[in-house]
Amino acid sequence: MSVYDLTGRKALVTGGARGLGAGMAEALARAGAAVVIGDIREDLGQATVDEIKKSGGDAAFLPLNVTDDGSWEQCVEGAIAELGGLDIVVNNAGVEITQLVADLDPDAIRKMLEVNILGTALGIKHGLRTMRPDGVAGKGGSIINISSVAATIAFPGIPIYSATKSAVDRLTKVAAMEAGKLGYGVRVNCIYPGLVPTAMGAGLANDMAALGLFESPEAAVGAVIELTPSGRLGEVADMADAVVFLASDAARFINGAGLPVDGGMGM
Ligand SMILES: NC(=O)c1ccc[n+]([C@@H]2O[C@H](COP(=O)([O-])OP(=O)(O)OC[C@H]3O[C@@H](n4cnc5c(N)ncnc54)[C@H](O)[C@@H]3O)[C@@H](O)[C@H]2O)c1
Repeated sequence: MSVYDLTGRKALVTGGARGLGAGMAEALARAGAAVVIGDIREDLGQATVDEIKKSGGDAAFLPLNVTDDGSWEQCVEGAIAELGGLDIVVNNAGVEITQLVADLDPDAIRKMLEVNILGTALGIKHGLRTMRPDGVAGKGGSIINISSVAATIAFPGIPIYSATKSAVDRLTKVAAMEAGKLGYGVRVNCIYPGLVPTAMGAGLANDMAALGLFESPEAAVGAVIELTPSGRLGEVADMADAVVFLASDAARFINGAGLPVDGGMGM
């Protein structure tokens, strides 16, 4: 059970095949929402769906490449057919390629711009169009974008990733403003997760050591913990619970916000 009740809500989580997105999908389902996971990794996505179903949740997988407008159209159409509506969109899919500013590679930059900015922007677009009063789902709702503590502090080795996550933060606020002004009935918020040792988070610690920024991956993790008043790394459940909260009626007057879920690292 969850302290927040999402019974009857219908949610789409991008990048929900593994890592934070999988945890968010599981937590939304535990709170009572029916969930579609949209991801490029069908194998992992289906396994996560099976886990949710085993725990009594309602879930399905649909292929989604967040960088492709046509893929979004198909996925949202499929999600509505599967779920019978849509109230919650979590734009979680993201990529991180560690590099020093002095060594920036244009292809790596483009990849992060595409998935993190374009992918999130298209997710907001399709979420708003679907949930606003003239949309196919049409009952309003909540969009939650996954930014990062990297949008709030300067950490070495992640210049473009940080820039894309700052863009997610701005996109969130402008989208919330437009949705309000145009009477869409959709709240748009984001969270800034701290470092969580998922495939991405653990990879980042390894990469920073390999770039010579820290003596070892353990030293990189230690530096993060040192900067964190709560004195530990983030856990998947920390992020998932924040998403459930922002999706719920308990957050009904929270709009255009960026919620740090980082143990205080970014303050
Ligand atoms: N792990 C951390 O420390 C951390 C910290 C702050 C923010 N974040 C953000 O949280 C989100 C999830 O991170 P994670 O740690 O779970 O990463 P992850 O690499 O473990 O998972 C990312 C998921 O996104 C999917 N994905 C990638 N490109 C996609 C595309 N084009 N279309 C659809 N799906 C795609 C992947 O298949 C994967 O399932 C990301 O946006 C990340 O930037 C993570």
